[in-house]
Amino acid sequence: MKFVLQRNPPILSFRYQFQSGCSSINPQVICKSNSSKEEFMSKILDRRWTLINPDTKVHHIRVSSLQTQQHCGPLENFSFSNNPHPSLGENVKEWHNDQSSFYIVRDDLLHPLVNGNKARKLDALLPLVEDHLGTDVVTCGGCQSAHAAAVAVSCAERGLKAHLLLRGEQPQVLTGYNLISMLYGNVTYVPRSIYANREEMLSAHADSIAGSVICLDDLLEASFTDHNSVKSNFPNIEDGSPLNSKKIVIVNEGAGNAVALPDHILGKDQPLKIVVDAGTGTTAVGLGIGALCLGLPWEVTAVMLADTIEGYRKQEEHLISELCRCYDVPTTRSGLVNWVERRHPRKFGNVVKGEIEACQQIAQETGVLVDPIYTLAAWELATQLSLEERKGGAKVVMD
Ligand SMILES: Cc1ncc(COP(=O)(O)O)c(C=O)c1O
Repeated sequence: MKFVLQRNPPILSFRYQFQSGCSSINPQVICKSNSSKEEFMSKILDRRWTLINPDTKVHHIRVSSLQTQQHCGPLENFSFSNNPHPSLGENVKEWHNDQSSFYIVRDDLLHPLVNGNKARKLDALLPLVEDHLGTDVVTCGGCQSAHAAAVAVSCAERGLKAHLLLRGEQPQVLTGYNLISMLYGNVTYVPRSIYANREEMLSAHADSIAGSVICLDDLLEASFTDHNSVKSNFPNIEDGSPLNSKKIVIVNEGAGNAVALPDHILGKDQPLKIVVDAGTGTTAVGLGIGALCLGLPWEVTAVMLADTIEGYRKQEEHLISELCRCYDVPTTRSGLVNWVERRHPRKFGNVVKGEIEACQQIAQETGVLVDPIYTLAAWELATQLSLEERKGGAKVVMD
């Protein structure tokens, strides 16, 4: 069973349905009229996308409680099993709560090297670069940045040249995302003192490539004011610069956009608790906005991993006001995401005793690969919430 993003062919066959009321989950959020919701979603979805097949799979994880006295690792009291072909869609009504369980959206299977939320983000953003005849992309990230690696791979797949500014020094042995970045992109290591001023660093590097330079945010904004036009927005292009000169697009690290959202294969009337792990919080806020716009009775709960609750609330407000600035968004206030602490809060990036073993347990029992820094946190919460679901709570979906 596939989870289908309904978007192209463009809006001519726009199939989303909009509910008349506001989200039942969060009364703080003010919704505008249905027509402005529709207009907003049309603007968001009526564009060219990258992924040829944007479907995602949904797996069903059953959770069994074990009678054990030992409580070493975070999941030692549980065992898991995976049904990779569960009944979904309208059959969702037949779900019964004889056992705790949760659903997991397998966006990690979208691409072998580009992880889920990055694949969704670049799916929406890279066609903009292509439409504006961009030739080069400049971005930045930490040494093991999944974002930088995703940009490098996705650009290479499209014949664009990726320039990656990675923080710090080159490691002696290249591994993981760092190795992928080096194989697919043009990596420059940048001292931390220079990296501290990212915007300046990015634009200085873009200038050094020689060509006309624009920020992706500006292309995105232009694409909404100048709808459906593929006219180049690069500066100087009409001032006599050679046609074959480089057109360089700066993509800010972690630049996130709520432009891709799974549709209602899980049943559009079905209240769901969507669980995500939050780094910058962009994915969580994007899901919250999307659910609201589509009138889906979803509650988005995000585990805070890299910031305080004040930081995440600020980020939520910032993203919403950015959206409001660019489009006539049908929300005017924050409060879309339920931000929660991880079971054992810690400095971002630290791994607590027993967590590698928990990842190993999940991999061996279900075939799902989670990492201790991000996705294990969401798995822990989904497991916890699945116990409540059995007592009559909403279905739990880990995204
Ligand atoms: C697996 C995984 N989960 C979550 C995140 C954080 O996403 P966001 O920054 O949108 O909160 C990342 C970001 O790199 C990630 O790689």
